Amino acid sequence: MPPDKRQDLPDAVAALFPGVAQRVHVDQWLGGELQRASMRIQAGPVAPTVDMTAFRAELDAFTFERPRPLEEMLRWTIERMEQGIVQMTNPRYFGLFNPGPSFPAQCADRIAGVFNPQLASSASSPVPVELERHVVRAIARRAALPEDAAGHFATGGSESNYTALLCALTRAHSGFACDGARAFAGPVRIYTSRDCHIAWLKAAHQAGVGRTALRLVATDGRGRMDPQALRSAIALDRGNGAVPVMVVATAGTTGAGMIDPLHACADIARDERLWYHIDAAWGGAALASNRLRKVLDGIERADSITIDAHKWLATTMGCAIFITRHAHLLSEAFHASTSFMPSSVAGVDPYLNSVQWSRRFLGLRLFLALASAGWEGLGAHVERSVEVVERVKERLVGLGWTVANESALAVLDVVPPLELGPVRELVRRVVTSGQAWVAPTAFEGRDVVRICATNGETTLEDVDTLVAALNQRA
Ligand SMILES: Cc1ncc(COP(=O)(O)O)c(C=O)c1O
Repeated sequence: MPPDKRQDLPDAVAALFPGVAQRVHVDQWLGGELQRASMRIQAGPVAPTVDMTAFRAELDAFTFERPRPLEEMLRWTIERMEQGIVQMTNPRYFGLFNPGPSFPAQCADRIAGVFNPQLASSASSPVPVELERHVVRAIARRAALPEDAAGHFATGGSESNYTALLCALTRAHSGFACDGARAFAGPVRIYTSRDCHIAWLKAAHQAGVGRTALRLVATDGRGRMDPQALRSAIALDRGNGAVPVMVVATAGTTGAGMIDPLHACADIARDERLWYHIDAAWGGAALASNRLRKVLDGIERADSITIDAHKWLATTMGCAIFITRHAHLLSEAFHASTSFMPSSVAGVDPYLNSVQWSRRFLGLRLFLALASAGWEGLGAHVERSVEVVERVKERLVGLGWTVANESALAVLDVVPPLELGPVRELVRRVVTSGQAWVAPTAFEGRDVVRICATNGETTLEDVDTLVAALNQRA
């Protein structure tokens, strides 16, 4: 094309790529608005207040025929978010493992969004890939895994656990990579406790071994996998011609924060020559605390582990870590070959080591949190949550509630006194009041109220508000 013709290119679409001055202006304005919204959220109701009929009608008006000003849309989005979600950043959210995210993690998201690095390949993103490897190694060291342990960041515990299953299957039979479940001499079996996170069923489904591959082993009456029941289940399956491949211990069960007997499970996996995975999606954060990490004693014996940074390590959503002591198996399970990728280094390039191909810069969230708080700061965050739950426990026990679980971590399962009525109705009252958020669940056959400290800024006043809401009669 002749040089003068280049000027004929249309301008960049200004609504999508505004000028620098406009971006700086919007950024500053947005930063202030978000902080003000955060303060309102902290003081406001935890439960959504949105009228969904009205919201759907409002959405119907978005036919996308007429562009609207970005600032108007940003203001609208913040308002709707303030009304339209359970507020994880509210310090009275004592809910599932979703954290109020740390500020360094939020900054990491902003940076990743601006640079938008492609972490599939080390040639495209040498610095981010190396930085993530560094963080993974630091976590592996903290878990006392061998120096050559390897891993990567994943979108969540489910992806990470699925990765573990693919590694286990790949090691169990050299034909699995090509022939899938057909390679095995009988139906595959995976063992975990009945209190596991039930996404394991999806992992079995995705891996092509079928949901019936999952054996849910009995617990010991205290929410932990019963090692004797595990041994018996494996023996029974072998006797019936099935092929056991993997034992999964949970370190921090979703319902009750219980830790399966990690050494006993490791012994059984070793004796039976099975892959040993520890799902420490939530509880793995205890590694950050010098005081609490001993509850994870035995984690160093795992073939692989899952830790979700987006749970107790308080990163923004979609940030897990998978680590294995068998680095070569990642390359075996996820290898691929193509000429268009900028680099193809086995053991280094994330697209050759993991489920994902294109990938976001997830590890920066944990790197910035760790770098700015240190292990000491991250440990103090974890220990603080345990303390919050201790305070809730003291107050509730004083008011006649019964503790159902004996977790050393930050989940409390409690049974209300009879006069407060059934658990599910009580939880509904608390949640609809907007004052606090807790969940109903079942623990060892009993309905319980599950209370988890997830927010790093919860105060004693918040604890008092929770306790008062829980004790409110119908
Ligand atoms: C023990 C455990 N494993 C796995 C998961 C699934 O993790 P994710 O929701 O990050 O996929 C959870 C989620 O709560 C969990 O508690």
